[in-house]
Amino acid sequence: MVLHARHLKIKRFNPEKDTKPWWGEYDVEVQPTDRVLDALHEVKWHHDGSLTLRRSCAHGICGSDAMRINGHNALACKVLVKEYKGTITIEPLLGFKVLKDLIVDMDPFFAKYRSVMPYFVNDEAPPERERLQLPEQRDRFDDTTKCILCAACTTSCPVFWSDTEYVGPAAIVQAHRFIFDSRDQGKEQRLEILNEKSGVWKCRTIFNCTEACPRGIEVTRAIGEVKQELLLRRF
Ligand code: SF4
Ligand code: F3S
Ligand code: FES
Repeated sequence: MVLHARHLKIKRFNPEKDTKPWWGEYDVEVQPTDRVLDALHEVKWHHDGSLTLRRSCAHGICGSDAMRINGHNALACKVLVKEYKGTITIEPLLGFKVLKDLIVDMDPFFAKYRSVMPYFVNDEAPPERERLQLPEQRDRFDDTTKCILCAACTTSCPVFWSDTEYVGPAAIVQAHRFIFDSRDQGKEQRLEILNEKSGVWKCRTIFNCTEACPRGIEVTRAIGEVKQELLLRRF
């Protein structure tokens, strides 16, 4: 097993002790195939146990370890240290309150998620077996079913950085998943919500969200489809 020395610069902040954030610098020994999450574990387990980060599945499924790595949002468990040259700089997601080190307060993010009715709405009694849907109807929202609510998109959006009222791309992706589901009956209500001033019209088609999405969701396209649906309603 060949180990390589890598230098990590991690933004640290403990509100119980620090008056402002500071950079912690660590030299770790990792394998080139290790992920950034492994390098962070190396710091936490062998250099400084007080380093605080959030992670769970370690396999790109739970969405809990999104962070800013060398200036771009990513899931630490999905990127390899060998993808980065020189020092690897790691910061918490932008636009949220930092609770400690790499952990941000996700409550406002999930409040926006809940605001778009991210659940199936249909008051008709269910048929005996299932609510049928053609494959092409299912395809209509297939892309947005892949969202794991990691917030990498919303916290990479310059509009959100400057205006935290903006509902943000992640919430729109979640709304899209139901708006275009042929079995759902909550479409009009969701569109009304997204037509408000904090909704889709704040998007300036900057595409950072699409670039940041670790699930490869065409986020900007989904937002565009919701905008189009709203425009169609006007005529
Ligand atoms: Fe994360 Fe992509 Fe969902 Fe945004 S759309 S929350 S980046 S998985
Ligand atoms: Fe922001 Fe994405 Fe729109 S980066 S401006 S939500 S296309
Ligand atoms: Fe679950 Fe990275 S730890 S997505």
